[in-house]
Amino acid sequence: MKFKLNTLLPTGAAMACLAVSSLAWSQDAFPNKSISLVVPFAAGGPTDVVARMIAIPMGKALGQTVLVENAVGAGGTIASAKVARAAPTGYTIFIHHMGMSTAPALYKKLSFDPLNDFEYVGQVVDVPMTLLARKDFPPTSFAELQTYLKANGNKVSLANAGLGAVSHLCGLLFMSQVGVELNTIPYSGTGPAMNALLGGQVDMLCDQTTQTVPLIKDSRVKVYGVTTLNRLAALPNVPTLNEQGLKGFEVKVWHGMYAPKGTPAPVLEKLNAALRVAMQDPQVKQRLTDLSSDVPPLDKISAAGLKTHLEAEIIKWGPVIKKTGVFAD
Ligand code: MLT
Repeated sequence: MKFKLNTLLPTGAAMACLAVSSLAWSQDAFPNKSISLVVPFAAGGPTDVVARMIAIPMGKALGQTVLVENAVGAGGTIASAKVARAAPTGYTIFIHHMGMSTAPALYKKLSFDPLNDFEYVGQVVDVPMTLLARKDFPPTSFAELQTYLKANGNKVSLANAGLGAVSHLCGLLFMSQVGVELNTIPYSGTGPAMNALLGGQVDMLCDQTTQTVPLIKDSRVKVYGVTTLNRLAALPNVPTLNEQGLKGFEVKVWHGMYAPKGTPAPVLEKLNAALRVAMQDPQVKQRLTDLSSDVPPLDKISAAGLKTHLEAEIIKWGPVIKKTGVFAD
Protein backbone atom coordinates (compact mmCIF):
# COMPACT_ATOMS: atom_id res chain seq x y z
CA MET A 1 0.00 0.00 0.00
CA LYS A 2 1.23 3.45 -0.88
CA PHE A 3 0.68 6.47 1.33
CA LYS A 4 0.81 9.98 0.11
CA LEU A 5 3.53 11.82 2.00
CA ASN A 6 1.21 14.75 2.83
CA THR A 7 -1.30 12.47 4.58
CA LEU A 8 1.41 11.25 6.93
CA LEU A 9 3.18 14.50 7.68
CA PRO A 10 1.32 17.26 9.56
CA THR A 11 0.68 20.25 7.36
CA GLY A 12 2.26 23.65 8.18
CA ALA A 13 -1.11 24.83 9.50
CA ALA A 14 -1.52 21.76 11.70
CA MET A 15 2.04 22.16 13.02
CA ALA A 16 1.33 25.80 13.83
CA CYS A 17 -1.87 24.76 15.63
CA LEU A 18 0.08 22.21 17.64
CA ALA A 19 2.76 24.76 18.54
CA VAL A 20 0.19 27.39 19.49
CA SER A 21 -1.86 24.97 21.58
CA SER A 22 1.20 23.60 23.39
CA LEU A 23 2.35 27.19 24.09
CA ALA A 24 -1.15 28.04 25.33
CA TRP A 25 -1.10 24.90 27.47
CA SER A 26 2.27 25.76 28.99
CA GLN A 27 1.07 29.31 29.73
CA ASP A 28 -2.17 27.99 31.26
CA ALA A 29 -0.14 25.63 33.40
CA PHE A 30 2.19 28.42 34.55
CA PRO A 31 3.57 28.10 37.09
CA ASN A 32 4.08 24.36 37.47
CA LYS A 33 7.40 24.61 39.31
CA SER A 34 9.18 27.06 41.59
CA ILE A 35 10.09 30.54 40.35
CA SER A 36 13.48 32.15 40.88
CA LEU A 37 13.36 35.78 42.04
CA VAL A 38 16.81 37.22 41.36
CA VAL A 39 18.11 39.88 43.78
CA PRO A 40 21.14 41.86 42.56
CA PHE A 41 22.70 42.42 46.01
CA ALA A 42 23.83 40.32 48.95
CA ALA A 43 21.48 38.44 51.27
CA GLY A 44 20.38 40.33 54.37
CA GLY A 45 20.45 43.79 52.72
CA PRO A 46 17.47 46.03 51.90
CA THR A 47 16.67 44.64 48.42
CA ASP A 48 16.86 41.13 49.80
CA VAL A 49 14.59 42.13 52.72
CA VAL A 50 11.92 43.43 50.31
CA ALA A 51 12.29 40.40 47.99
CA ARG A 52 11.85 37.91 50.84
CA MET A 53 8.93 39.91 52.23
CA ILE A 54 6.97 39.64 48.97
CA ALA A 55 8.20 36.20 47.81
CA ILE A 56 5.94 34.38 50.27
CA PRO A 57 2.60 36.07 49.43
CA MET A 58 3.49 36.01 45.70
CA GLY A 59 4.21 32.30 45.96
CA LYS A 60 0.90 31.71 47.75
CA ALA A 61 -0.97 33.61 45.04
CA LEU A 62 0.78 31.65 42.29
CA GLY A 63 0.54 28.27 44.00
CA GLN A 64 4.32 27.72 43.73
CA THR A 65 7.34 28.66 45.80
CA VAL A 66 9.13 31.88 44.84
CA LEU A 67 12.80 31.29 45.68
CA VAL A 68 15.07 34.28 46.26
CA GLU A 69 18.42 33.98 44.46
CA ASN A 70 21.17 36.52 45.19
CA ALA A 71 23.39 37.24 42.17
CA VAL A 72 25.77 39.93 43.37
CA GLY A 73 28.36 42.23 41.86
CA ALA A 74 29.06 45.43 39.92
CA GLY A 75 26.32 47.47 41.60
CA GLY A 76 23.55 45.13 40.41
CA THR A 77 24.58 45.00 36.75
CA ILE A 78 25.74 41.35 36.88
CA ALA A 79 22.28 40.20 37.94
CA SER A 80 20.59 42.46 35.36
CA ALA A 81 22.68 40.90 32.56
CA LYS A 82 21.99 37.39 33.89
CA VAL A 83 18.22 37.96 33.88
CA ALA A 84 18.31 39.64 30.45
CA ARG A 85 19.81 36.39 29.08
CA ALA A 86 17.54 34.00 31.03
CA ALA A 87 14.83 31.93 29.30
CA PRO A 88 11.68 34.09 28.90
CA THR A 89 9.38 31.61 30.59
CA GLY A 90 8.37 33.45 33.76
CA TYR A 91 10.45 31.10 35.91
CA THR A 92 13.17 33.73 36.28
CA ILE A 93 12.06 37.14 37.50
CA PHE A 94 14.02 40.06 38.86
CA ILE A 95 13.68 42.74 41.49
CA HIS A 96 15.92 45.78 41.19
CA HIS A 97 15.85 49.33 42.45
CA MET A 98 16.52 52.64 40.72
CA GLY A 99 20.02 51.36 39.85
CA MET A 100 18.29 50.09 36.70
CA SER A 101 17.89 53.74 35.65
CA THR A 102 21.35 54.98 36.67
CA ALA A 103 23.38 52.12 35.13
CA PRO A 104 23.21 53.45 31.53
CA ALA A 105 24.92 56.70 32.60
CA LEU A 106 27.36 55.06 35.05
CA TYR A 107 28.61 52.22 32.86
CA LYS A 108 30.20 52.97 29.49
CA LYS A 109 29.67 49.34 28.44
CA LEU A 110 26.57 47.60 29.69
CA SER A 111 25.86 44.05 28.59
CA PHE A 112 22.10 44.63 28.85
CA ASP A 113 19.64 47.31 27.85
CA PRO A 114 17.18 48.30 30.63
CA LEU A 115 14.62 49.47 28.08
CA ASN A 116 14.80 46.66 25.53
CA ASP A 117 15.91 43.48 27.28
CA PHE A 118 13.12 43.16 29.84
CA GLU A 119 9.40 42.84 30.24
CA TYR A 120 7.88 44.83 33.09
CA VAL A 121 5.83 43.32 35.90
CA GLY A 122 5.29 46.40 38.05
CA GLN A 123 6.69 48.84 40.58
CA VAL A 124 7.26 47.38 44.02
CA VAL A 125 8.09 49.76 46.87
CA ASP A 126 9.55 53.23 47.55
CA VAL A 127 12.15 53.37 50.32
CA PRO A 128 13.83 56.40 51.95
CA MET A 129 17.49 56.38 52.97
CA THR A 130 19.38 57.38 56.11
CA LEU A 131 22.89 58.75 56.52
CA LEU A 132 24.66 56.71 59.20
CA ALA A 133 27.97 56.28 60.98
CA ARG A 134 29.38 53.69 63.31
CA LYS A 135 28.09 54.10 66.85
CA ASP A 136 31.34 55.59 68.22
CA PHE A 137 32.03 57.97 65.31
CA PRO A 138 33.03 61.30 66.95
CA PRO A 139 30.68 63.97 65.42
CA THR A 140 27.53 64.28 67.52
CA SER A 141 25.48 66.46 65.12
CA PHE A 142 25.19 67.06 61.39
CA ALA A 143 26.97 70.43 61.79
CA GLU A 144 29.87 68.72 63.60
CA LEU A 145 29.88 65.99 60.97
CA GLN A 146 30.49 68.49 58.16
CA THR A 147 33.37 70.16 60.05
CA TYR A 148 34.87 66.76 60.90
CA LEU A 149 34.67 65.52 57.30
CA LYS A 150 36.23 68.69 55.94
CA ALA A 151 39.14 68.31 58.40
CA ASN A 152 39.64 64.56 57.96
CA GLY A 153 38.86 64.13 54.26
CA ASN A 154 39.58 60.70 52.89
CA LYS A 155 40.72 59.33 56.25
CA VAL A 156 36.99 58.74 56.70
CA SER A 157 35.63 55.61 55.01
CA LEU A 158 32.20 55.50 53.38
CA ALA A 159 30.87 52.04 52.52
CA ASN A 160 28.62 51.34 49.55
CA ALA A 161 27.35 48.46 47.45
CA GLY A 162 29.31 49.28 44.29
CA LEU A 163 28.95 51.60 41.32
CA GLY A 164 25.23 51.81 40.56
CA ALA A 165 24.07 50.95 44.06
CA VAL A 166 21.85 53.55 45.71
CA SER A 167 24.24 53.66 48.68
CA HIS A 168 26.85 54.76 46.15
CA LEU A 169 24.55 57.34 44.56
CA CYS A 170 23.49 58.75 47.95
CA GLY A 171 27.15 58.96 49.00
CA LEU A 172 28.08 60.76 45.77
CA LEU A 173 25.33 63.33 46.19
CA PHE A 174 26.24 63.83 49.85
CA MET A 175 29.96 64.31 49.11
CA SER A 176 29.27 66.71 46.27
CA GLN A 177 26.81 68.84 48.33
CA VAL A 178 29.08 68.98 51.39
CA GLY A 179 32.19 69.42 49.26
CA VAL A 180 34.26 66.51 50.63
CA GLU A 181 35.94 63.46 49.14
CA LEU A 182 35.67 60.39 51.38
CA ASN A 183 37.37 57.04 51.00
CA THR A 184 34.62 54.89 49.45
CA ILE A 185 34.70 51.14 50.06
CA PRO A 186 32.51 48.84 47.94
CA TYR A 187 30.77 45.70 49.24
CA SER A 188 28.51 43.19 47.49
CA GLY A 189 25.50 44.79 49.13
CA THR A 190 24.67 47.00 52.07
CA GLY A 191 23.96 43.85 54.11
CA PRO A 192 27.70 43.13 54.37
CA ALA A 193 28.45 46.90 54.38
CA MET A 194 26.18 47.24 57.43
CA ASN A 195 28.00 44.38 59.17
CA ALA A 196 31.24 46.27 58.58
CA LEU A 197 29.69 49.44 60.03
CA LEU A 198 28.38 47.58 63.08
CA GLY A 199 31.81 45.98 63.51
CA GLY A 200 33.52 49.37 63.28
CA GLN A 201 35.51 48.43 60.14
CA VAL A 202 34.05 51.38 58.21
CA ASP A 203 32.94 54.82 59.40
CA MET A 204 29.87 55.77 57.36
CA LEU A 205 27.10 54.34 55.17
CA CYS A 206 24.03 55.72 53.44
CA ASP A 207 21.41 52.98 53.47
CA GLN A 208 17.70 52.25 53.05
CA THR A 209 15.23 52.28 55.93
CA THR A 210 14.20 48.70 55.11
CA GLN A 211 17.47 47.76 56.77
CA THR A 212 18.24 50.72 59.02
CA VAL A 213 15.10 51.58 61.06
CA PRO A 214 15.51 48.77 63.66
CA LEU A 215 19.24 49.50 64.01
CA ILE A 216 18.61 53.23 64.52
CA LYS A 217 15.85 52.55 67.05
CA ASP A 218 18.18 50.22 68.97
CA SER A 219 20.98 52.86 68.84
CA ARG A 220 23.31 50.37 67.19
CA VAL A 221 24.33 53.03 64.64
CA LYS A 222 24.58 56.83 64.70
CA VAL A 223 22.14 58.62 62.37
CA TYR A 224 22.70 62.13 60.92
CA GLY A 225 19.64 62.54 58.74
CA VAL A 226 17.05 61.10 56.39
CA THR A 227 17.16 61.63 52.63
CA THR A 228 13.51 62.60 52.09
CA LEU A 229 12.23 66.17 52.10
CA ASN A 230 9.91 65.38 55.03
CA ARG A 231 10.69 63.54 58.26
CA LEU A 232 9.70 59.89 58.47
CA ALA A 233 6.88 58.57 60.66
CA ALA A 234 9.09 55.71 61.86
CA LEU A 235 11.95 58.09 62.84
CA PRO A 236 10.19 61.35 63.83
CA ASN A 237 13.19 62.70 65.77
CA VAL A 238 15.65 62.29 62.92
CA PRO A 239 15.92 65.52 60.90
CA THR A 240 16.08 65.53 57.11
CA LEU A 241 19.36 66.42 55.40
CA ASN A 242 17.35 69.10 53.56
CA GLU A 243 16.32 70.86 56.81
CA GLN A 244 19.93 70.69 58.04
CA GLY A 245 21.23 72.72 55.12
CA LEU A 246 21.58 70.30 52.19
CA LYS A 247 18.85 72.07 50.26
CA GLY A 248 16.84 69.81 47.98
CA PHE A 249 18.71 66.68 49.05
CA GLU A 250 16.28 63.92 48.15
CA VAL A 251 16.79 60.25 47.44
CA LYS A 252 13.86 57.85 47.64
CA VAL A 253 14.58 54.44 46.26
CA TRP A 254 11.97 53.02 43.91
CA HIS A 255 11.96 49.34 43.01
CA GLY A 256 10.60 47.38 40.08
CA MET A 257 9.96 43.77 39.09
CA TYR A 258 11.07 42.55 35.67
CA ALA A 259 11.16 39.40 33.53
CA PRO A 260 13.33 38.61 30.48
CA LYS A 261 12.19 40.08 27.16
CA GLY A 262 9.78 37.73 25.40
CA THR A 263 8.11 36.37 28.52
CA PRO A 264 4.55 35.67 27.25
CA ALA A 265 1.85 38.21 28.11
CA PRO A 266 -0.42 35.71 29.93
CA VAL A 267 2.51 34.73 32.17
CA LEU A 268 3.32 38.38 32.85
CA GLU A 269 -0.32 38.97 33.76
CA LYS A 270 -0.19 36.15 36.33
CA LEU A 271 3.04 37.52 37.78
CA ASN A 272 1.55 41.00 37.96
CA ALA A 273 -1.61 39.73 39.66
CA ALA A 274 0.53 37.91 42.25
CA LEU A 275 2.67 41.00 42.82
CA ARG A 276 -0.47 43.08 43.41
CA VAL A 277 -1.73 40.50 45.92
CA ALA A 278 1.65 40.59 47.72
CA MET A 279 1.73 44.39 47.84
CA GLN A 280 -1.78 44.47 49.32
CA ASP A 281 -1.00 41.76 51.89
CA PRO A 282 -1.78 43.28 55.33
CA GLN A 283 1.42 41.90 56.90
CA VAL A 284 3.60 43.20 54.06
CA LYS A 285 1.89 46.61 54.23
CA GLN A 286 2.33 46.82 58.00
CA ARG A 287 6.00 45.83 57.85
CA LEU A 288 6.68 48.38 55.13
CA THR A 289 4.85 51.09 57.10
CA ASP A 290 6.98 50.23 60.16
CA LEU A 291 10.04 50.77 57.95
CA SER A 292 8.68 54.09 56.56
CA SER A 293 8.44 52.60 53.08
CA ASP A 294 5.51 53.08 50.70
CA VAL A 295 3.54 50.67 48.58
CA PRO A 296 2.99 52.36 45.19
CA PRO A 297 -0.59 53.02 44.04
CA LEU A 298 -2.12 50.11 42.09
CA ASP A 299 -1.78 51.84 38.70
CA LYS A 300 2.00 51.86 39.23
CA ILE A 301 2.08 48.16 40.11
CA SER A 302 1.67 47.52 36.39
CA ALA A 303 3.87 46.95 33.36
CA ALA A 304 3.00 50.36 31.91
CA GLY A 305 3.52 52.11 35.27
CA LEU A 306 7.01 50.65 35.67
CA LYS A 307 8.07 51.25 32.05
CA THR A 308 6.97 54.90 32.09
CA HIS A 309 8.74 55.45 35.42
CA LEU A 310 11.97 53.76 34.27
CA GLU A 311 12.07 55.84 31.08
CA ALA A 312 11.57 59.07 33.04
CA GLU A 313 14.22 58.12 35.62
CA ILE A 314 16.83 57.29 32.94
CA ILE A 315 16.27 60.78 31.53
CA LYS A 316 16.40 62.36 35.03
CA TRP A 317 19.60 60.69 36.31
CA GLY A 318 21.69 60.83 33.11
CA PRO A 319 22.75 64.50 33.45
CA VAL A 320 23.08 64.33 37.27
CA ILE A 321 25.53 61.44 36.99
CA LYS A 322 27.42 63.02 34.09
CA LYS A 323 27.97 66.08 36.30
CA THR A 324 29.63 63.95 39.00
CA GLY A 325 32.08 62.63 36.38
CA VAL A 326 31.86 59.12 37.86
CA PHE A 327 31.61 56.18 35.49
CA ALA A 328 33.04 52.72 34.88
CA ASP A 329 34.81 51.71 31.68
C1 MLT B 1 21.26 46.22 48.88
O1 MLT B 1 20.23 45.55 48.81
O2 MLT B 1 22.33 45.74 49.30
C2 MLT B 1 21.21 47.67 48.53
O3 MLT B 1 20.00 47.97 47.89
C3 MLT B 1 22.39 48.03 47.73
C4 MLT B 1 22.38 49.49 47.36
O4 MLT B 1 22.83 50.30 48.13
O5 MLT B 1 21.93 49.79 46.26
